[in-house]
Amino acid sequence: MASKWAKSDPSTAESPASSGDSGSAPVLEATELVAGYIPGVNILNGCNLAVHAGEFVGIIGPNGAGKSTLLKAILGQCSVRSGQIRLGELDITGHLAHQLVKLGVGYVPQVNNVFPSLTVRENLEMGCYLVPSLFRERFEYVTTLFPRLGDRAAQRAGALSGGERQMVAMGRALMMHPQVLLLDEPSAGLSPALQDEVFVRCRRINEEGVAILMVEQNARRCLQVVHRGYVLDQGQNAYTGRGRDLLADPAVIELYLGTLAKSTGG
Ligand SMILES: Nc1ncnc2c1ncn2[C@@H]1O[C@H](COP(=O)(O)OP(=O)(O)OP(=O)(O)O)[C@@H](O)[C@H]1O
Ligand SMILES: [Mg+2]
Repeated sequence: MASKWAKSDPSTAESPASSGDSGSAPVLEATELVAGYIPGVNILNGCNLAVHAGEFVGIIGPNGAGKSTLLKAILGQCSVRSGQIRLGELDITGHLAHQLVKLGVGYVPQVNNVFPSLTVRENLEMGCYLVPSLFRERFEYVTTLFPRLGDRAAQRAGALSGGERQMVAMGRALMMHPQVLLLDEPSAGLSPALQDEVFVRCRRINEEGVAILMVEQNARRCLQVVHRGYVLDQGQNAYTGRGRDLLADPAVIELYLGTLAKSTGG
């Protein structure tokens, strides 16, 4: 059942619907995170989050809620003023993105997530520049997952469609074989058919063992595909629960899914 966030117990995170091991320590965990960009202005006001091995976790919430900031705080791209971020047993609070890539964290930012002047192949090479010997095997994997990228390997990323660029960005993040993949609005700006393709690919990546933390503006679709979801509002956890329970929660529908529910007739 979905629950309004119980601040005293970050692990109220219910067991995932069909995957992940909620009994084990999370692969990624944020505890009482307070973070922001400008001194004296906090955007996150005590966020909690846990992603377990094999889990597909979604974050939804209104514009400006701090969803991207939560991912950036994990990636060391804004200042964490208090709280802690752990990757397995390791305290990674304040670690920088390139350090985290080495530790098995992949990240696809919301914007500017490809090098437009480089070819698809070169973008994918950038994804494993820390360990170039991985390239051959991972290129094979990524182009099997996204055959279009194999066809377009020699084309400049800037010349691709929005959907293809998103594939390049996800492919690049997969080149280091991450244990956890952070995605910021992977379906934004895509047609409904392409959005679906992105979600199907995410699911497949997850089923192959990569834990995923996905921020999504398409809240309803997000909650349909993830095991568990977090609703973030004003830099704090508002609701958490299994995706399907959040989808059915009257308060979540009223506050966060209402417009979409009306516009899709569901
Ligand atoms: N680099 C920055 N410097 C200062 N403030 C920022 C910066 N980036 C974001 N903010 C502010 O932080 C708040 C949260 O922004 P954030 O991008 O995390 O929201 P979001 O939930 O991802 O929203 P959206 O759904 O629009 O992507 C906003 O008020 C935003 O203006
Ligand atoms: Mg955002």
